[in-house]
Amino acid sequence: TDVRYYSDLESTNNTAREIATRSPEGTVVIAETQRKGRGRMGTEWQSIPGGIWLSLILKPSVPLDNVSKITLVAGIAVTNTLRNAGIDARIKWPNDVLVRGRKICGILTEVSAEVEKVDYVILGIGINANVKLVDFREDIRLNSTSISNEIGKVINRTAFIASLLYELEQQYIMFKTRKFTDIIDEWINLSDTIGKEVKIKTPNKLIEGKAVGITENGAIVVLDRNNERQEIIAGNCRYRN
Ligand code: BTN
Repeated sequence: TDVRYYSDLESTNNTAREIATRSPEGTVVIAETQRKGRGRMGTEWQSIPGGIWLSLILKPSVPLDNVSKITLVAGIAVTNTLRNAGIDARIKWPNDVLVRGRKICGILTEVSAEVEKVDYVILGIGINANVKLVDFREDIRLNSTSISNEIGKVINRTAFIASLLYELEQQYIMFKTRKFTDIIDEWINLSDTIGKEVKIKTPNKLIEGKAVGITENGAIVVLDRNNERQEIIAGNCRYRN
């Protein structure tokens, strides 16, 4: 694998995007810190030292109807890697990885062109590996955790990244070769969201109800208050309490 390491970047997703067309599939861009780390829905992603901030360039040869599927696949890979490290990680739809209800990883998937042919996919993964929670801004700190905080010691990030990339490759191969329903089953097994009461905000509506499943396209299925089935492909999910 072609791994490019930088001490500081604006955003690994931006650098990956810049080099995507001339780079082979599987190229990884890693930065120790990011000045403008980006989260989903235009949010800022605080990328302080000790974390794992990386982007992977993918070039799926199969036509890609939507990126939600790849995001689910990445969530499975990160969750499996954390579990192999002894951490009880679960996936919150669409792509947050949580431990004890706190965020340990976020995933930001971007494509070269949503319409027509997709040339490449940038899979951005941020993992709070050896981050000290005190270094986070207070609003982020309250809902976050890190690997070192969970296991009480600093991990070897190189070894962790190696097993993460291995797991991502395995999952990506399965995604390309197996039925997507197999991936859905695995995702549901690792899910923190299915069965919970949720509130999902999309650009044009707010859906409240119980999360009951995932469709063939990677959309979440919610039974709303009128017991009507709603399928949501992308949105911001909160748990109701
Ligand atoms: C989210 O949960 O909102 C997604 C966060 C994604 C963060 C990662 S860190 C590496 C890559 N580069 C970025 O600027 N963002 C992603």
